[in-house]
Amino acid sequence: MQKWIQSLIAAKKIGFLGAGNLSKSIIQGLTRASVVPAENIILTNRNAEKRQKIASEIHGVQAITSNEELLEKAGIIVLGVKPQDLVSAIEPIRHLIHKEHIIISLAAGVSIEALSKLIPTTKNLIRWMPSTAMKVQASVTAYTTMEQNETLIQLSEDLLNPLGLAIQVEEGEELNSIMVACASGPAFIYEFMQIWESWLESYDIPQNIARKLCIQTFLGSAKMAQQAAELNLHDLQNQVMSKKGVTSVGIQHLRSVEFEDLLTAAFEKSFNRAKDMEQDFEMNLQQIDKK
Ligand SMILES: NC(=O)c1ccc[n+]([C@@H]2O[C@H](COP(=O)([O-])OP(=O)(O)OC[C@H]3O[C@@H](n4cnc5c(N)ncnc54)[C@H](OP(=O)(O)O)[C@@H]3O)[C@@H](O)[C@H]2O)c1
Repeated sequence: MQKWIQSLIAAKKIGFLGAGNLSKSIIQGLTRASVVPAENIILTNRNAEKRQKIASEIHGVQAITSNEELLEKAGIIVLGVKPQDLVSAIEPIRHLIHKEHIIISLAAGVSIEALSKLIPTTKNLIRWMPSTAMKVQASVTAYTTMEQNETLIQLSEDLLNPLGLAIQVEEGEELNSIMVACASGPAFIYEFMQIWESWLESYDIPQNIARKLCIQTFLGSAKMAQQAAELNLHDLQNQVMSKKGVTSVGIQHLRSVEFEDLLTAAFEKSFNRAKDMEQDFEMNLQQIDKK
């Protein structure tokens, strides 16, 4: 991490407003990888039990009760609430957000433009679209900033790269496609893994063994693809298949039932849902304007 970013974080501190699944994964990733000392992390959460549990699990992280206090104590604020809770969480405190605050939104379906209408008092707005794989330092995170501001870009790169792979993107289709394939990605992968596991179990392989076999197969495949960057995935697939052999019969069946179309349709459904959520959020904002 660049020294000046380290100093910025130490001076400002990172405050998580809403400490659910994703915020917790980010906090775990940042502290486990020693990217940010736990003492520089503060959090709030609506549900007190969850808030205290994280603070007791991650030594040094400070859990506080009020979002107002969070804005006073932290200069970098990560908005970790669900998109449908964002307006109600921000409305009562937005008068306290000033131009020095850096706001990082994790919310799916909330554009920077919409965020800037909700929070007009700072231009330091960033969107991160990570996955919960942050906690094992293996996430893909697409990010975008309101302005081509070196501090916001370097801050994102330095915090995100140690937790996986960071990629700066344009908002819109680029960000939304990475959101589906990579942030929602683990859920799609687990859907496959469940099929692998159950199928092995149906042949009397105990569940705990089936799980290990399944994990190793996914890990091994990803590792081979990583190490053979010069080959495309089709070449790698051909290394496993021989004509009319065991593998090729199964793969041919998958292709004949248009498996790719099925998965693409599932991705498109998620992609369109993100667009609908953007519209819903815009309508929510209009309600505030009318007040
Ligand atoms: N999960 C993912 O893999 C993923 C990936 C990419 C992006 N995202 C985005 O990340 C955000 C969080 O998702 P998540 O899965 O972490 O959701 P989550 O587990 O439901 O976490 C949201 C947390 O926000 C808390 N909260 C709600 N209103 C609050 C308020 N006014 N003040 C303080 N805390 C408040 C909730 O508290 P309670 O305990 O009371 O419910 C909850 O713990 C969403 O915007 C989502 O779109 C998630």
